[in-house]
Amino acid sequence: MSNSPILSNCSAESIQDAAAALKAGHLVAFPTETVYGLGADARNPSAVKRIYEVKGRPSDHPLIVHISSIDQLDKWASEIPEYAIALGRRFWPGPMTLILKRTSLAGDFITGGQDTVGLRVPSDPIALELISEFERISNSAIAAPSANRFGQVSPTSSMDVIEELEEFLTQFDIVLGGAVSSVGIESTIIDATQKVPTILRPGAITPEMINSELKTSVKFVNENSDLRFSGSFPNHYSPRAKVILDVVPSYGQGLVALYGIETPDGVVRLASPSDSTEYAQCIYRAMRTADQIGLKQIVFFQPPNIGIGLAIRERLQKSAMGRKKY
Ligand code: TXA
Ligand code: MG
Repeated sequence: MSNSPILSNCSAESIQDAAAALKAGHLVAFPTETVYGLGADARNPSAVKRIYEVKGRPSDHPLIVHISSIDQLDKWASEIPEYAIALGRRFWPGPMTLILKRTSLAGDFITGGQDTVGLRVPSDPIALELISEFERISNSAIAAPSANRFGQVSPTSSMDVIEELEEFLTQFDIVLGGAVSSVGIESTIIDATQKVPTILRPGAITPEMINSELKTSVKFVNENSDLRFSGSFPNHYSPRAKVILDVVPSYGQGLVALYGIETPDGVVRLASPSDSTEYAQCIYRAMRTADQIGLKQIVFFQPPNIGIGLAIRERLQKSAMGRKKY
């Protein structure tokens, strides 16, 4: 196909090419340990505009800026509380995003016009190398949402990205191939603009981990908050198949449940994770597989509500609200 994006392997050279493509205003999808991201130069408004076009996402919905280390934090953020530094030191590189007051480097086109910016240092080695190389040649960083169409299932492999976005990318955009995402769900988002940190989106950095690091109790976002956060729209994380929670599955339905739970006759077992960590790794894959083989319904037995189980349940409950158009 003439306009198909380049699926690049990850030699040092291809990472340099990808950084150069970003600098030229093109898009680069890249692996991270949570889910794959769709990156653009965080200081280039027209490149960032293309992210919104490719995703089909409303432009007031802010993007996370990906930086290579905590040393870059004060370029993008100001008024950084001590607890944010403590969290960054402890959990970066890793699956955590901090929302902080922005500096003038973070334009309205990144923050959706808010005076805050989301920042994350991912741990995936390809992501880190790409970001470092891009920072070196540009004095910027990489703005990236998950590399899926708005409201749909996040991609956890480069093939997922291609399947999801190929028709919207140009021949100058690049999809960097890498490992299957090891965490499997999006980062924990923490609002670090207040005295006490607040979890806006749960993830692999759990409340228990945050509390034990800070020796305080992290808060959870109030549903009525005016902050725009992931999942504040009803149709997040939704496959075409209907997601149903915690009922006995019937003939022809898909099933995801912890290992040891039996599969009734005629039910298609999509995954049997042995614990919540494995459960997180497989939920989006299971949803994609269900769509690929044409299942109409998937039953998920939710994992216990502790640790990363909290984040899995949040995603599944949003998925169960179904796909909506607006
Ligand atoms: O794991 C992740 O976070 C992945 C990888 C690629 O890093 N990224 C990701 O991005 O999930 P996205 O755009 O799909 O979800 C990020 C969420 C959005 O829902 C956005 O509303 C929220 O982060 N966000 C970003 N900046 C924000 C801000 N300044 N205030 C409140 N929420 C913000
Ligand atoms: Mg997303």
